[in-house]
Amino acid sequence: MDCNNTLANLSKQLKSSNDAVIIELQDGFSFKHQGIYNFERFISFFDWTITDKRVLIDMTHCYGANYQALSLIVLYAWKLKSQRCTVTFKESEATQGASEMFRSLGGRGTFTVMMHEHLNFKGSNYKPLFALRNNTDFKKIIESAESYTDDFNVEFTKTLRYVLSELLYNTREHGQSHYQYGKKTCTLPSLCQFSWYKNKSEVSFIIADNGIGIKAHLEQAYPGQENHAEAILKAMKPKVSGTFGTNDPYRDKNNAGIGLFLSTNIIRRLNAEMHIISGDAVVHISPRDITSKKLNSFWPGTFVLVTIKVDKGAAEHSLEEMLRGFREEALLEQNKADTNEQKEQLYVNISNYFGFFAEDKEAAISFKEDKIFPALDSGKKILLDFKGIESSPHSFLSALLASPIKSTGMRAYKIFKIVNATPDIRETVDFIMDENTE
Ligand SMILES: Nc1ncnc2c1ncn2[C@@H]1O[C@H](COP(=O)(O)OP(=O)(O)O)[C@@H](O)[C@H]1O
Ligand SMILES: [Mg+2]
Repeated sequence: MDCNNTLANLSKQLKSSNDAVIIELQDGFSFKHQGIYNFERFISFFDWTITDKRVLIDMTHCYGANYQALSLIVLYAWKLKSQRCTVTFKESEATQGASEMFRSLGGRGTFTVMMHEHLNFKGSNYKPLFALRNNTDFKKIIESAESYTDDFNVEFTKTLRYVLSELLYNTREHGQSHYQYGKKTCTLPSLCQFSWYKNKSEVSFIIADNGIGIKAHLEQAYPGQENHAEAILKAMKPKVSGTFGTNDPYRDKNNAGIGLFLSTNIIRRLNAEMHIISGDAVVHISPRDITSKKLNSFWPGTFVLVTIKVDKGAAEHSLEEMLRGFREEALLEQNKADTNEQKEQLYVNISNYFGFFAEDKEAAISFKEDKIFPALDSGKKILLDFKGIESSPHSFLSALLASPIKSTGMRAYKIFKIVNATPDIRETVDFIMDENTE
């Protein structure tokens, strides 16, 4: 474990009395550490468990920071406030460092903006920060992005706007979160911030929310996602959407389920990269490859960080042409996908069939005969989802799985897939697997 981290935690504890917590922004508050992206380190900063406390966020010891990273402090403060904390910021008067950057963002308006739906941040024009709650906010963000990109070529501006709006739609449509304020149900806004780093010829923007996250959202339509990383990767596929054709006024009907597919492909075509963080996973999209990683800490909701090199000399990519190409690809991929996975798999939500205490052996036996064997006979895979199940006895699991596993032999490891199992359950199932595949 990082020894600085331990020290910081210790001093946090020492300084906090019963109902007060001091959170110190570490110097170099950024997604990068020593020049390399390190979301593990960044996300571990956030403690989401604090409720009903006085919280002081101390920025005075943070001399260098990143604007997109710092803007997440606003979202964090909102989240704490929604957990009935009283949050104050401690700033230094210094004309550099996190305190000054926070002021440039308009961070002093954090709670005014939270409480007034018609107000937004009043920071510097060069460091635009926005709360996103309604159409007016949406328009403001797009307008600001456009005035910002005056210098860039037309196609680049259009492309940027396209990706930005897909991500804004997503956070509005899928990333909303609510909290109780007295008797009222209020919406916790999403957040958007962008910066134009002239010296690096780079544009960066972040879109962040504290919603239910991609995995939970996607599971409305595709239950039993194995983990957050898989869910993000799945959401990036064409025609994959967590909404079941809800009638949403913001949805371009032809575009359902294809927003992330198109945006991530555009990113890969440009000299750009994207990080999608949701739950405990980060997916990195770059022209070279797409990689995913599980983190030890988590972000409750989703944020997307985009960084694009503005290469003025480069040939213009026409947005229309790019989109046409990607749509054709999407169709091809879609046709392939249609014929496999969903249709070739039996999805078994254990708690639906057997309740939260999955222990009825008789029920397991009839389920096996009625569902599992017929599915295996028709060549299907079996996806067992143990979501919500605390424990399940060996005899139940064995009654359900032993003979089906035996009947498939070594192929069992490919055919049977277990998700959302507690370590206990997983161990038992692994044991039954081993026993029956020898
Ligand atoms: N900010 C977000 N919060 C929660 N889920 C999200 C978010 N962004 C994307 N998703 C998930 O990813 C899916 C795919 O997104 P997208 O490709 O844009 O398609 P669409 O928005 O049309 O559903 C969404 O349907 C949703 O399940
Ligand atoms: Mg979308």
